[in-house]
Amino acid sequence: MSTSTNERPLSGIASIGLHLPPLAMGVEELARLRGEDPDKFTIGLGCKAMSLCPPDYDVVELSVVAAERALSRWGGDRDRIGLLAVGTESALDMSRPLSAWVAERLGLQGSIRSYEVKHACYGGTLAVRQATEWRMAEANQGRAALVIAADVALYEQGDPGEATQGAGAVAMVIDEPEVALIEPHSFPWSEPVFDFWRPVGEAFPRVDGKLSLECYKRAAERCFRALVGQQDPEQVFADFTAFCFHVPFPKMVLKAVQRVGTFFRWDPERIATFFAEKVSPTMAWNRLSGNSYTASLWISVANALQGLQLGERVAAFSYGSGFGAELLTLKAGPKAISGAWEKDVVTDLANRQFVDAAAYCALRA
Ligand code: CAA
Repeated sequence: MSTSTNERPLSGIASIGLHLPPLAMGVEELARLRGEDPDKFTIGLGCKAMSLCPPDYDVVELSVVAAERALSRWGGDRDRIGLLAVGTESALDMSRPLSAWVAERLGLQGSIRSYEVKHACYGGTLAVRQATEWRMAEANQGRAALVIAADVALYEQGDPGEATQGAGAVAMVIDEPEVALIEPHSFPWSEPVFDFWRPVGEAFPRVDGKLSLECYKRAAERCFRALVGQQDPEQVFADFTAFCFHVPFPKMVLKAVQRVGTFFRWDPERIATFFAEKVSPTMAWNRLSGNSYTASLWISVANALQGLQLGERVAAFSYGSGFGAELLTLKAGPKAISGAWEKDVVTDLANRQFVDAAAYCALRA
């Protein structure tokens, strides 16, 4: 793939690494523990399992394993990394960026810009955009960026969000668009609200669940309206092989698709077909890992990119409470077809252990 156009250098994902932690629990087991009907979690929310971290296994560990995988697949010299950005809402410190812990473990230091990005689940996408724009602006001086989206999502025990918990990390080297070109133009939308937030010093988020659902749907509608603009919606949507969304829980994504489809006057059958063919398959790994906040959208994007032919397009809708949203579009590069990063998820899923309710309670104690 060529490295530049006459106007500006192309920028995109050169390699991907993923990591899911070594423990998990099925949501039906959680339903038994909480005295809920399992169908509420499996059918009502569309969840299957949630990834969990053992004691002393944190967001740094998740980030480092994903990053090592992405760097080794990229194959470049680590001296070529000029920017390290970690998007997370699982920060360890109010001042010291998570990237400093990650950089220590990866041996990255010196002439490198290293920082953390926070905007709830949107932080990873912001980091991707910043790295992309850094490269497109030629501020990179020939160097590549390492972007990591990583989180451990836990709610207070018994909280309505508990069944949607999860954890995971996606690392991407932003360089030549070997896996996917990130198209220059994106479609943001933000509104200042309190739908989901975690005051300083509190361990778990406060959530206005119903408001958060409405904000997510409104943001999706606004971003897709901006994508279509004055064009023929049929042609715009037909141009994409897959549509990825931030996945707090799979039913949320269905609700957003219904909202977008209704805006474009699709009938219920059209919406159902679109969801089944172009959206639902991208959530195969999310269903098994649960919500991993910043990593959630990028787990779906990684799933959608594997096996694509050169030039096939993917849309990626990012949502972070507070709220900020952005719709990105990507175009598969020559290495998408190999889907090499699938191995990370297959390995982690094969190696992880399912805990029962008693072990889960012990973990949370
Ligand atoms: N069988 C089948 N379905 C059932 C059922 C049963 N026995 N019992 C309930 N259901 C269905 C309900 O009908 C409902 O479906 P619909 O919305 O389609 O009607 C669904 O299960 C959920 O039921 P409730 O609405 O009663 O659920 P709840 O109020 O207990 O909690 C929630 C739902 C508010 C979303 C909660 O999971 C939550 O607070 N989650 C955290 C916030 C969140 O994820 N928000 C999403 C947007 S914000 C965001 O994206 C940021 C982020 O990552 C957190």
